[in-house]
Amino acid sequence: SPPSFTLNNGARLPGIGFGTWKAAPGTVGEAVRTALRVGYRHIDCAAVYQNEQEVGQALQQALPQLGLQRRDLFITSKLWNTCHHPQRVREACEQTLRDLQCDYLDLYLVHWPFAWPFTGLPIRVDNWRPSHKDGTLAFAHDVSLQDTWRAMESLVDAGLVRSIGVSNYGLAELHDLMSYARIPPAVNQIECYPLHAQHEHKAEAERLGLHIEAYAPLGSGASPVLQLPEVQAIATRHQATAAQVCLAWNLQRGCTVLPKSVQPDRIAQNFEAHRLRLDASEMQQLDALDRALVACDMREYWQYPMPEPCTLPRFVTE
Ligand code: A2P
Repeated sequence: SPPSFTLNNGARLPGIGFGTWKAAPGTVGEAVRTALRVGYRHIDCAAVYQNEQEVGQALQQALPQLGLQRRDLFITSKLWNTCHHPQRVREACEQTLRDLQCDYLDLYLVHWPFAWPFTGLPIRVDNWRPSHKDGTLAFAHDVSLQDTWRAMESLVDAGLVRSIGVSNYGLAELHDLMSYARIPPAVNQIECYPLHAQHEHKAEAERLGLHIEAYAPLGSGASPVLQLPEVQAIATRHQATAAQVCLAWNLQRGCTVLPKSVQPDRIAQNFEAHRLRLDASEMQQLDALDRALVACDMREYWQYPMPEPCTLPRFVTE
């Protein structure tokens, strides 16, 4: 089985998690059942993926069939931007628990470090993104990240979630969070793959006691990373695939990976990546591929350019 990592509260998580982002309703349930069958014990979900109900049904079916208990799994979900208000945090978490048919989450993350106005629950295609009449995004300036974090801490106190963390936080936001957290964040889940290695962020987040979870560990289908000659040469040497090389690199540097696929052979192939052992020189070669190249282009949603100070990232789509 893949390595597991220990969080700053002593909880352990399996280093390979199954990613459910962009897995369309109608396909995600089957993908989750396949993932559990081939050995995944960690599922990464979010309310905004709008597929948690189907994931929950798949878990209900698959667990007894595979002789598994809820405690054998590590299940993560994320608080959507429209539910940052302290009064909404618990409702949002309870909605996710109902959808996933779970009575607790192993990990609950603040999905993004900004708040939008509440637009109702559950999150749906017609309410996930509140906009002004001119189509620009509406931000909820009355809700601070500190207010939201207090409410996240209450979820731990209430036993609804075992660990809490964040996603898409920059270092400035992490430092800010560390200054007021009663329960320090266990995780920052960020985009992380060889062309966007996040070396500096990883070092500093780990110094602060956070574990890095890598989303889009294969470049999210948008990046040339799987075609890079350096990656392919290493793959050939190990009779592995380029995808497996990317996953093994992140695992060996101590990051949890959350590969997404809805294709059974790829779901299995990605899980088997933990068998691959890269040597120090291969790790160095892969470390050197970093171009700070962002694969998941969210500008349309977040309406970049972000306020100063902020260095604009470069996107693989450019
Ligand atoms: P699909 O779901 O059709 O397999 P990431 O995990 O970085 O977000 O990447 C997900 C994207 O990469 C999806 O488009 C997925 O497509 C594709 N993908 C997943 N696993 C592999 C693999 N082993 N080889 C090539 N592409 C993959």
